[in-house]
Amino acid sequence: MAAMLTDMLGNYMYKQRIGQDRIGLEKWAVQTAPYLYSADSEELFERVKLASNELSGRVLLLDSDGKIQADAYGELEGMRLDLPEIASVLVSGNTASYGVHEMSQHASTILEKSIYKYLPESWVSVSTACLVEAADVIGVIVLISSVNDMMQSLYLLQSNMLMLFVIAALVAMISGTVLSSVITNPLKDLMRGIQRMGKGDFSVRVPEKGSGELFHMAQAFNSMTERIETLDNSRNQFVSDASHELKTPLATMKIMIESLIYQPDMEEELRTEFLSDVNAEIDRLSAIVSDLLTLVHADAHTIKLSRNRMSFASVVKEVAHRLEPLISQREQELELNIQDSCDMYADRSKLEQVVYNLMENAVKYTHTGGKIKVSLYRDGREAKLTVKDDGAGISEENLKHIFERFYRVDRARSRETGGTGLGLSISKQMVTLHSGKIYAESEEGKGSTFTVILPLTTG
Ligand SMILES: Nc1ncnc2c1ncn2[C@@H]1O[C@H](COP(=O)(O)OP(=O)(O)OP(=O)(O)O)[C@@H](O)[C@H]1O
Ligand SMILES: [Mg+2]
Repeated sequence: MAAMLTDMLGNYMYKQRIGQDRIGLEKWAVQTAPYLYSADSEELFERVKLASNELSGRVLLLDSDGKIQADAYGELEGMRLDLPEIASVLVSGNTASYGVHEMSQHASTILEKSIYKYLPESWVSVSTACLVEAADVIGVIVLISSVNDMMQSLYLLQSNMLMLFVIAALVAMISGTVLSSVITNPLKDLMRGIQRMGKGDFSVRVPEKGSGELFHMAQAFNSMTERIETLDNSRNQFVSDASHELKTPLATMKIMIESLIYQPDMEEELRTEFLSDVNAEIDRLSAIVSDLLTLVHADAHTIKLSRNRMSFASVVKEVAHRLEPLISQREQELELNIQDSCDMYADRSKLEQVVYNLMENAVKYTHTGGKIKVSLYRDGREAKLTVKDDGAGISEENLKHIFERFYRVDRARSRETGGTGLGLSISKQMVTLHSGKIYAESEEGKGSTFTVILPLTTG
């Protein structure tokens, strides 16, 4: 580009220069033509000297044979000058010709050397114009002038531009390399991360560097892997917890059935007791399996709510009725405080599951003779249910986890009471499906309060 630009600029400058020379030279060609053969050499010499002064160069007059008739420097008369611009006019028949020569390199003949001697600059321009008389070419006027200043400034420009372009190219190369590494390094990190993840390593994280999109991409990747890792861990935990839960009743059943097989003369009463225990374990197993299925559906988002117009208050009353035998067995007191029927468009059986679990928990985890208070009221566009007991309560640490699957505060005790620790996590899923909220408050030793808030959707 530098070469092209300087070339273009050089051509332009040269044309400007030639344009000036041409006008002057052609004027002198017309003026001098009549004198070429008629005037004596002295007069011709005076004329070329005048022309030389005016055109600021060395002017020569040549006859049609190419012999020098007059030289403004008075040196070369009678000699022949072998320059392409002269041949162009005298041999090829052009009216004018122009050219630039680097004299120090191309000065081959003595004549050229002598021109060079009188013009001790490196670059000269040679302009020629034909002398015409009666439509015949009778000679040629030659102007040799220095274009050194022009060429020198052109070379300076060329070298400066070349340097500038080299610097620009270097800067572009360096910044290109730096920029590409800034862009490609985070991308490479990300690619490595994805490959490791593809091999099953979900603990992989990429450095969150760079800026703009790349930074956000790294952040998004990390939060994605974090989520996948959590999901993977909880899935593994779920599978191991579930198998553990299923193993215990199976082991109990195996012991009892083996006793029945190997003790054929067992007392009838004991045999019946064993069989009813096995039956209870089977009930427990099928309850766990159905809970697990509910959770699997909830995870896969395949639970469909079958919503109908219903009264939430009637659900609470019904559950209370179902729990009556257990409550009286535990000599507990249940206070129902229902202020509104809380009609809504919801899935009755799913909400029944929620209320049942909360109330059953309150009964199960409250000492005999304890007090349970269930309140339902309407708060604007929401129904608010609270189940309050005066049981042992839940410590702050345990309270954080009770909605997790299989989480039980006192494993040994809840086994006694028959819990698997799935009730609250299922309740939470059901409430969430209804766009509601569920939370627990508790103070150790004083009791717990579970609250469910459901929007009163009208369908
Ligand atoms: N009202 C409560 N008072 C004290 N602890 C409670 C209460 N409700 C729940 N918890 C604790 O939270 C744990 C989780 O309750 P969740 O209902 O999820 O399971 P579960 O009752 O043990 O078993 P499931 O409901 O599946 O039969 C219980 O095991 C119990 O330790
Ligand atoms: Mg429960």
